[in-house]
Amino acid sequence: MIKVEVRLALLFAAFVAFAAEPGAPLPGVTSAQLELFRLGQEDFNEVETAQEGLGPVFNGTSCGQCHSVPAIGGIATMTEVRAGHVDADGKFTALNGETLFSVFSIGKHECQIQIPREANVIARRVPTPLFGAGLIEAIPDAAILALEKPVGNADGVKGRASRVTDIATRQPRIGRFGWKAQHATLLAFSADAYRNEMGITSDLFPDELSPGLTARQLKLCDLKPDPEDVRSRVTGLRAIDNFENFMKFLAPLDRGAAGPDDDAGERLFAAVGCAACHVPSMTTGPSANPLFDRKRVNLYSDLLLHDVGTGDGIEQADASGDEMRTPPLWGLRFRRPLLHDGSAATALEAIRRHGAEAEAARSRFLALEPVEQGNLLAFLGSL
Ligand code: HEC
Ligand code: HEC
Repeated sequence: MIKVEVRLALLFAAFVAFAAEPGAPLPGVTSAQLELFRLGQEDFNEVETAQEGLGPVFNGTSCGQCHSVPAIGGIATMTEVRAGHVDADGKFTALNGETLFSVFSIGKHECQIQIPREANVIARRVPTPLFGAGLIEAIPDAAILALEKPVGNADGVKGRASRVTDIATRQPRIGRFGWKAQHATLLAFSADAYRNEMGITSDLFPDELSPGLTARQLKLCDLKPDPEDVRSRVTGLRAIDNFENFMKFLAPLDRGAAGPDDDAGERLFAAVGCAACHVPSMTTGPSANPLFDRKRVNLYSDLLLHDVGTGDGIEQADASGDEMRTPPLWGLRFRRPLLHDGSAATALEAIRRHGAEAEAARSRFLALEPVEQGNLLAFLGSL
C-alpha cells in the first residue's frame, strides 16, 4: 500500500516536472537563479507611481499589466500606437524624433501628448509574449544570419537579419525581440520598455520619451530626476536587471495536448512552405550555464524580417516600413488577436492575410483539401 502511494507520488512529481505551469521558471534553475527569477517577477508586477518615476507619459503602470495572459509574462488585449510621416517619395520621418505616442500622462491634462497633424501613418501593435525569451536570447547571431536568403528561395522568400547596435555594450548584434526585431537582448528591451511603456529612465535610456512636450510641461510632469532607475543598495541591481532575470529564466509554454491530426498538420505546414519562415527549431550556442547550453528552441520562427504584405509603415531600428519579424508561433493557442496590430481574429484569418514573400505559401495552403487545411489549423492549435 505504502509502496503504491510512493509510486503514485513519484509519478505525480514527474508529471509536474514535465508539464510546467505557464509562468514557471525553466526546469533545472539553481536556487540562486530561482531567487533572481522571483525578485524579477516581483518587480515586473510592481505598479509604479509618478513619485517613483512613472511618466510624464506612459502606456501602462507595470510590465505585468500588458504581459499577463495566460500567466505573468504573456500578453494582454491592448494595443499601443506608433505614428510617422511618409512623403510622396516614400521617405519616412519620425515626427518630433519619435514614433511611439503614449496614451496616458501623469498630472491633469498638461502633459497629454498628441499625434502631430503631419502624421499620415498610424500603426497599432499588440504585446508579444515572453515565455522562453531567455532561450531566444541565447541563439547565436550567426545562427540567425545563416537563415538569411538574400536572393530568395524558389518561392521568393528572402528574409533579412535585423542589424542593430546593442545599447548596453555598443556592439553590433542581430536583433530578435519585438515586431521589428528591434533589440538583441532582454536587458536592452527592458530598458527600452521601462522608458517607452512607463516613462522610467535608466542609464541605458536616460532621456524621457516625450514627443512634442515643452520644457515647461516636462518640468510639471516629470517629478523625479533622470535616470530614475538606479541600482538598489541592497541587491546592486537596477529594475531593468530584475526584468531581464525574470524573462531570462521564464520557461517556454508546453505544447498543448497532441491531437491525432497534429502530425499530418505539421507535415503540411512544412510542405506548403510555412516552415521557410516559421522555422520549427533553432539551437542555442555553447554556454557555461547548462540551462542555455546547446538547447533546442522550438520557436517556429527564423527571427528574420520579411515583407509579407502586412507591414505597418513604421521604420524602426533596422526594419523598413514593409518589414516585420516572423513571430514565433510557440504558445500560439494562448494568443488572440493575431498579427502585429491584432487585426486577425483567427489563425485562418492571419494566414489569409499573408502576401508578398508569403504569397506562394498562402496559395498552396488555400489549395489544400478542407480536411488538410483542418489538420494544419489543428497543428497550429496545438502550439
Ligand atoms: C502598455 C503595455 C506594455 C507594458 C506596460 C509593457 N509592455 Fe512589453 N510589450 C508591449 C508591446 C505592445 C510589445 C510589442 C512591441 C513592439 O514590438 O512594437 C511588447 C514587447 C515586449 C518584449 C519583446 C518580446 C519579444 O519576443 O518580441 C519584451 C522583452 C517586453 N515587452 C518586456 C517588457 C518589460 C520588461 C516591461 C516593463 C518594463 C514591459 N514589457 C512593459 C506592451 C507592453
Ligand atoms: C515569408 C515568411 C513567412 C511565411 C512563408 C509564412 N509566414 Fe506566417 N508570418 C510571417 C510574418 C512576418 C508574420 C507577422 C506579420 C504581421 O504581424 O504583420 C507572420 C504571422 C503569422 C501568424 C500570426 C502570429 C501572431 O503571433 O500574430 C500565423 C498564425 C502565421 N504567420 C502562420 C503561418 C502559416 C500557417 C504559414 C503557411 C501557410 C505562414 N505563416 C507562412 C512570415 C511568414
